[in-house]
Amino acid sequence: MRARKGILLAGGAGTRLHPVTRSVSKQLLPVYDKPMVYYPLSVLMLAGIREILLISTPHDLPLFQKLFGDGAQLGLEIAYAEQPRPEGLAQAFLIGEPFLDGAPACLVLGDNIFYGHDLTRHLREANARARGASIFAYKVSNPRDYGVVEISPEGRPLSIEEKPAKPRSAHAVPGLYFYDAEVVARARRLAPSPRGELEITDLNVSYLRDGLLEVISLSRGTAWLDTGNADALLQAGSFIQAIQARQGLKVACIEEIAREQGWIDDAALRRLADGLGKTEYARYLRALVEG
Ligand code: DAU
Repeated sequence: MRARKGILLAGGAGTRLHPVTRSVSKQLLPVYDKPMVYYPLSVLMLAGIREILLISTPHDLPLFQKLFGDGAQLGLEIAYAEQPRPEGLAQAFLIGEPFLDGAPACLVLGDNIFYGHDLTRHLREANARARGASIFAYKVSNPRDYGVVEISPEGRPLSIEEKPAKPRSAHAVPGLYFYDAEVVARARRLAPSPRGELEITDLNVSYLRDGLLEVISLSRGTAWLDTGNADALLQAGSFIQAIQARQGLKVACIEEIAREQGWIDDAALRRLADGLGKTEYARYLRALVEG
């Protein structure tokens, strides 16, 4: 199997946040001590994915380019593409077609935060699967706000619906999807939904109909956090602060993950720390090298 490539979709407005925050990409707002986009980027890195396309609006894309450059400082290859209008999550595969160039793909949404002990194992498992699609399921108290998957007692997906008025289960589908090389052809066959978007749920339904959709249930020991409104954003920041203060370890520290993966060495990590001045984040990176 060819190495899977990642797509990080960080466009669209944070429509449930104060308009002032919309003058800068929502995914660049801090979640406690680092930009929101670090969290989904860390998920791709933990899955072992190094070639990544970051898609955002024409207005915000230069800000991401300034932040990450070509990604070499993290041992990554980061490319960029514009999505002029938010015409649906599945559009990422039409925009990303030249980048993917026939490789299997993983899509992660720029505002999704994951944390949990089984996460890396699940990510590696999904990444190793050559054929079909893998999505995740996570029990929530408000399934109407998400894509919802109904799962058989044997763990097979039975149905998947976008924001159903009457959810068939409490299992929401997080914004993290693994697809085989057919994904672009399948995305091409989608028609816009009544809200005018190429829906990721319709793409998943196409795999489900062909018996090619696998669903991985994330346990209650995993956190999948929302950042959609002011309350959710504050709660996510508080959660990260609490875990980090207790353990003295950072969640989604992309520099640390790059070093753990063996993609950068200690000298490179020290250079990254030096670029962060006198911050606590820089001290943390230096301590990783100095032990
Ligand atoms: O977060 C998981 C949910 O994400 C899934 O459960 C749903 O099935 C899926 O449709 C999506 O639902 P949302 O209502 O959260 O999607 P939203 O339109 O808010 O977009 C999610 C993020 O992606 C948001 O940060 C904006 C960005 N986006 C959205 C669209 C539609 C883009 O970058 N481009 C787009 O075209």
